[in-house]
Amino acid sequence: MKGSEVAVKTAVKILGLNAFHGDASAALLVDGQLAFALEEERLNRIKHWAGFPALAARACLAQGGPGPLEHVAISRDPRAHFWTKVGRLVTRPGDWRRSASRVKNTVDVARLGARLGEAGIANAEGVRVHFVEHHRAHLASAFFASPFDEAAVVSIDGFGDFSSVMWGVGRGNHIDVRGSVRFPHSLGQFYTAFTQLLGFPKYGDEYKMMGLSAYGTPRFAPQVRDVVRVEGDQVRLNLDYFIHHSTGVEMTWDGGEPVIGPIYSRKMVDVFGPAHPPRTTLEERHVDLAASVQLVLEECYFALLNAVYERTGLKKVCLAGGVALNCVANGMIFERTPFEDVYIQPASHDAGTSIGAALHVWHEVLKQPRGFVMRHVQYGPEYSDGEIEREIKSFGFDSSPLCESELIDQTARQLADGKIIGWFQGRMEFGPRALGGRSILADPRRKDMKDTLNRRIKLREPFRPFCPSILAEATGEYFETDYPSPFMVQAYKIKPHQRERIPAVTHEDGTGRLQTVERDVNPLYWSLLKRFGELSGVPILINTSFNENEPIVNTPAQAIDCFLRTNMDGLAIGSFLVLKSTASLEREAAEALQTVRL
Ligand SMILES: [Fe+2]
Repeated sequence: MKGSEVAVKTAVKILGLNAFHGDASAALLVDGQLAFALEEERLNRIKHWAGFPALAARACLAQGGPGPLEHVAISRDPRAHFWTKVGRLVTRPGDWRRSASRVKNTVDVARLGARLGEAGIANAEGVRVHFVEHHRAHLASAFFASPFDEAAVVSIDGFGDFSSVMWGVGRGNHIDVRGSVRFPHSLGQFYTAFTQLLGFPKYGDEYKMMGLSAYGTPRFAPQVRDVVRVEGDQVRLNLDYFIHHSTGVEMTWDGGEPVIGPIYSRKMVDVFGPAHPPRTTLEERHVDLAASVQLVLEECYFALLNAVYERTGLKKVCLAGGVALNCVANGMIFERTPFEDVYIQPASHDAGTSIGAALHVWHEVLKQPRGFVMRHVQYGPEYSDGEIEREIKSFGFDSSPLCESELIDQTARQLADGKIIGWFQGRMEFGPRALGGRSILADPRRKDMKDTLNRRIKLREPFRPFCPSILAEATGEYFETDYPSPFMVQAYKIKPHQRERIPAVTHEDGTGRLQTVERDVNPLYWSLLKRFGELSGVPILINTSFNENEPIVNTPAQAIDCFLRTNMDGLAIGSFLVLKSTASLEREAAEALQTVRL
């Protein structure tokens, strides 16, 4: 190097991918910091898209700044449990013939390098491709995103790379894997089988059965306990109730959306009754079955967590995997286990493995120290006031920008007056929950607001609860557990004397799946809650995702379109507050009524 030259250190970029798998996503890590992350469904508008997330990957790279992309990490490893897979292929060739798509899927993963080149995302020669075992990516997404230096780490899902559970100990920049549960045993598959039997056949429908369970009596728990049990750190299915290990399960892709065929056997039907047809009236026995399955899931979940506690002796735990989105179980962790601190990856489902795969490479492969904590989920695209104003005008609205205090005050007043407001602010959320970036907000004090929201906008099953956002500092005043729940993945019991004050977010079992909002994490949303609290006496808002039977809105145009085709009263978008006139709302309501009559 000549004396006048200065070595310029370029940032290390790692693109994480969850690809060829449900909830495909991409995440960009720059020098160990999460810079951008989003699910492909938000861009291509196909729910749970399971292909190659080319749009999301390109969006990540567009935000990454100068410098080359050096690493791509995918949360699948075709070499993981390779001989187990070969053994099944030899002993059960029918499994693979019946599901040719499974073979193609493995080939797709294995030739990722070529695919990156074809999609113009990275030059295969210039980038290092890392195959990260699915559950190691889940574990990394929880521990390396947490604020803990040392913790037990547990991942629980349906399956990924032939495992359904993995646990270990995280210390600094390393996770020491201590145990796993292998195919065909799976707590996630147990829950999915009953979800299918109860008439919720779509990928990701498990949360519907969880919502339903609050209305039932778990009178079938003894029979359900015959289906699954936990021994030590092992889940054991009674395989008589399943077919995924024997005749195999048909996996198809319906327009990009993954569809998993029934995984339960004839015996399941003989013992628990015939499958409930989707979208038909649920009987008491269906609701009681949901309650029984939820109860047994909780028993198994806590047996596993307690086994991990006994083997690690650590008081902190980090969780990921689809089963870790069971907010009812998560809300009881402190009651049912000795753990004293918990961090749950907000995107615990498979979308979060793109973040996990990238974090795994940064810490475990490149041996870099910790320096990132995921305290929020707003890692997606954002839009300037100029872009928003152009869209507003293109839809025919005439609106002027407000200063922040006016926007907060006027929006809070509308909400306190019973209005339903779309809230489009800052960057889009990553993961399944709207947490103050792309939300629909309403007043939780109004008993009829749940029905109103369902009738006017969300059109969803009446047994599903709406959830509260609350000022973090008010949590202990309203909830029996005073511990941060920033990602809406824990349901806490609402104090009995407060339930009547916030009936629209009090679920049948007296819980609320809350989001605690901290001032330094989301100051604008915190200010809105604060102002609403001053006006109403309750620093809580109903927060549901900004969408109508579609992926959460991403762009201003999608938000305005959703605002116009639903019966929302107003839209707080950037610095603008757009309100519908009473006349237009009455016309929409009349049209909706006419549609129902037809
Ligand atoms: Fe998974």
